[in-house]
Amino acid sequence: MYQGDNGELKYQVITFGCQMNEHDSEHIAGVLEGIGYTSADHQDDADIIVLNTCCVRETAENKVFGLLGRLGKQKKQKPGLILCLGGCMSQQEHMGSRIKERFRYVDVVFGTHNIHQLPDLIEQAKAERRQVIEVWPDSRGVVEDVPARRQQGVRAWVSITYGCNNYCTYCIVPYVRGRERSRTPESIISEVITLGREGYKDITLLGQNVNSYGKDQTGGMDFADLLSAVNDVDGVERIRFMTSHPRDFCDKLVGAVAKLPKVCEHIHLPFQAGSNNILRLMNRGYTREYYLELVDKIKSAVPDVALTTDIMVGFPGETDADFADTMDLVQRVEFDNAFTFIYNKRQGTPAARMDDQVPAEIKSARIQELIKLQSGITLRRNGADMGKVLECLVEGPSRTNKDLMGARTRTGKIVIYRGASEQTGMPLPLRITGYSLTHLNGELLPEK
Ligand code: SAH
Ligand code: SF4
Ligand code: F3S
Repeated sequence: MYQGDNGELKYQVITFGCQMNEHDSEHIAGVLEGIGYTSADHQDDADIIVLNTCCVRETAENKVFGLLGRLGKQKKQKPGLILCLGGCMSQQEHMGSRIKERFRYVDVVFGTHNIHQLPDLIEQAKAERRQVIEVWPDSRGVVEDVPARRQQGVRAWVSITYGCNNYCTYCIVPYVRGRERSRTPESIISEVITLGREGYKDITLLGQNVNSYGKDQTGGMDFADLLSAVNDVDGVERIRFMTSHPRDFCDKLVGAVAKLPKVCEHIHLPFQAGSNNILRLMNRGYTREYYLELVDKIKSAVPDVALTTDIMVGFPGETDADFADTMDLVQRVEFDNAFTFIYNKRQGTPAARMDDQVPAEIKSARIQELIKLQSGITLRRNGADMGKVLECLVEGPSRTNKDLMGARTRTGKIVIYRGASEQTGMPLPLRITGYSLTHLNGELLPEK
């Protein structure tokens, strides 16, 4: 039996990592609500706590270990508390034994491929009073119809592919998320139609490499075709997608982004490194010349496009000259924003075994230099919107000040303005009156 005497069992899901995990957490919440749990406002009120973990870098893992320690103490005070650990960390082969040894009090360990089994695993852990570990090593196809409890608002995420086949030499994702699998166009479109009816207006299509959508299917629909089909769905006003792999960003896709009215002028296009030598060692499958040419194509086909990226410093063997190539590429492209990372060894990946690991002080000096350069560019790019009137979609009141509202431009930037909560969900033209590194400030146009 899942339900307590008062029927008031509560859950909390704590998420680490990328948007894929954020969306998986919506499914975890949906599954828990399906067996009668309701969302807890506060961690202390929760009867079940699920950690949805990330292992892309060591820092992400360390945060989870720290939190597990604190939750262990909480469980001593509240022995009935059920702790579950899911997500990418639990998919690592060595993790099962580590959890068994260090965190015996975790009740359920589950993987990224078997979220739908959570109710049975919880029941088993409760009945048998032991740690239950069930991690499917790889997916057994795409499991459809797992319920989701989506965040309220105007934005929603839709997975279109799972897993990754690229095997970039630094990256753990293919090992913990499995081979790339595309969902069928029918199941994606039917999900988007439902979201449109429910009032979600800004839809992001998700996958580790959305551009290779459909390559594992016989139906013949590629990513550009899928965008076109999503563009036809009523109620949806904006379409975004991430992440794009530069190698698979074909001309047909550039054309689709330019032509389809609902597809936003925002493309997240990780380049990782500006040096051809490092790109080859990373197994990224493109050169800096190819990347720069692609950026030129996108910029000329999609005027006012905002480009964002992921950049890594300190990959094994990265010399000063290689790093200078990265800085040079950042200067040339003028990204609106960039996520910057220090290379971090991941057990089981080819790069972890490479010689020439870069010393920590050099990595840290390089990232500082890179962040400084990109911050200047981000400020300049945000400043270039000053005085413009931009079409914004209102997302809701600011958390800290209820007179202030948050809206988003088609280019993905947040605009804070003085308004009313009734405007949530409305498209509004806003005049840009200020800017910072993180957002723009705006004002409503005077009524005519
Ligand atoms: N599929 C996406 C990104 C997934 S991971 C893509 O290919 O772009 C998100 C980012 O984490 C990557 O873009 C990369 O910059 C960074 N990352 C991945 N593995 C890393 C590692 N071992 N050390 C440091 N950063 C890493
Ligand atoms: Fe990792 Fe590369 Fe796949 Fe992105 S494309 S998830 S960086 S292996
Ligand atoms: Fe982390 Fe897994 Fe995403 S390792 S970055 S949560 S796919």
